Amino acid sequence: MDDSHGVGVLGAQDARPVGGDLGPGELACSQPMGRFRNLRGHVRQSAWKTLHVGGLQVQVRTFGEPPDPGAVYLCPSVGEYPIYDDDIYQVILEDERRNTLFRSAITAAAPGATVLEIGSGPDLLWTLAAVGAGASRVYAIEVIEDSARRAEQTARSHPSDDIRVIAGDATSVVLPERADVCIAEIVGCIGGSEGIVAVLADARSRHLAPSASVIPSAVRTLAGAICLLDLFGGDVAMPPAFTPYAEAVFQQVGMPFDLRLYVGGVDATALMSTTGVIEDLRFNEQSYVQGGDLRLEITRCGRVDGLLAWIELAVAPGDAGLNSLVEDTNWLPVYVPFTLDEPIDVNVGDVLSLQVAVANADDGIHPEYFFRGQLTRTGSGAEVTVSAESRYSGGAFRSTVVHRGLLR
Ligand SMILES: C[S@@+](CC[C@H](N)C(=O)[O-])C[C@H]1O[C@@H](n2cnc3c(N)ncnc32)[C@H](O)[C@@H]1O
Repeated sequence: MDDSHGVGVLGAQDARPVGGDLGPGELACSQPMGRFRNLRGHVRQSAWKTLHVGGLQVQVRTFGEPPDPGAVYLCPSVGEYPIYDDDIYQVILEDERRNTLFRSAITAAAPGATVLEIGSGPDLLWTLAAVGAGASRVYAIEVIEDSARRAEQTARSHPSDDIRVIAGDATSVVLPERADVCIAEIVGCIGGSEGIVAVLADARSRHLAPSASVIPSAVRTLAGAICLLDLFGGDVAMPPAFTPYAEAVFQQVGMPFDLRLYVGGVDATALMSTTGVIEDLRFNEQSYVQGGDLRLEITRCGRVDGLLAWIELAVAPGDAGLNSLVEDTNWLPVYVPFTLDEPIDVNVGDVLSLQVAVANADDGIHPEYFFRGQLTRTGSGAEVTVSAESRYSGGAFRSTVVHRGLLR
């Protein structure tokens, strides 16, 4: 997929003067970090906010409100949990880059078809696009009860269209017929993290005609090494507006854990290494590659404390692909921290070799990502053991340098 059309998250005016306000990794090698606003000053004025998780209290470190446009910021990964609120739906609805791609794919596929939309949300955006394009009937499934109720109201305001809203999880509801086209905007910030592989496997077996086409067509997730701590000038915190989502994720899972984190305001200049693919999902070919070997060569001297993962999404077959590291879109890159006490010093030519394993969480739907391997020093061949995980539900708490800085 080609990402050359990307518009970039940060403009040239965000460029930081080389040599000014350097982070620890930069001092070590006198290398510029890229175009990031250094948030060190803000984080010094941080405050701890208390979250309630069952009988437990967890504190999350916060700064700044709202996130400064152009600044690097952290946000809990929310898309894989049934905790969507109006603000989250609004962010998605306003993503015109995404919307243009989906509208165009639906206009091409829907005429005359029986359509299934999995995860319609309250606004039935793609269901209405499908009937508008000439679909004969649309089944819209939505798992969040309140969103499904509102979707029913939305459908009632289009009485001449054959729209049937079904409240429930797509993997457990029963449809009266099989659909010719499936629209499933349950693409995660790590492509498969919202469970699209398991949900579509079930849909293929129970809800869809054998030759049914799927929108989106494909999503790849790539990864490269970064030092998040250095992007933040040594301390991490999140805007207070996002802390209710951290609480909602912990409550959903039933305990505090090292939750998955989005990184906003970051772009490819943050990368410390070459990049590789960790997941390659092709929904129409029914080819799902999750995990495998990841080999990243360090391209800048400094430090690394984890991986940044992002998606390339083809909504229709042959799309150039939306790139969430390059473009301004609701999908944000995801930080996958190494389980280490401190960032690792790296030099150009060092190699990170990681085996990536993907296994579904206990619900059998949402994948969790595990990385094991080593950093091999160029020249000496000395090795540093490296591991990381990005869990959906549970696992370690405060096991990474970033999670220890963020949570207590
Ligand atoms: C990213 S939102 C997309 C909303 C809307 N389709 C759009 O594109 O603007 C994903 C929606 O899918 C729902 N969802 C996720 N997994 C689902 C499942 N297995 N069955 C039904 N709904 C699901 C979520 O509750 C959420 O409302």
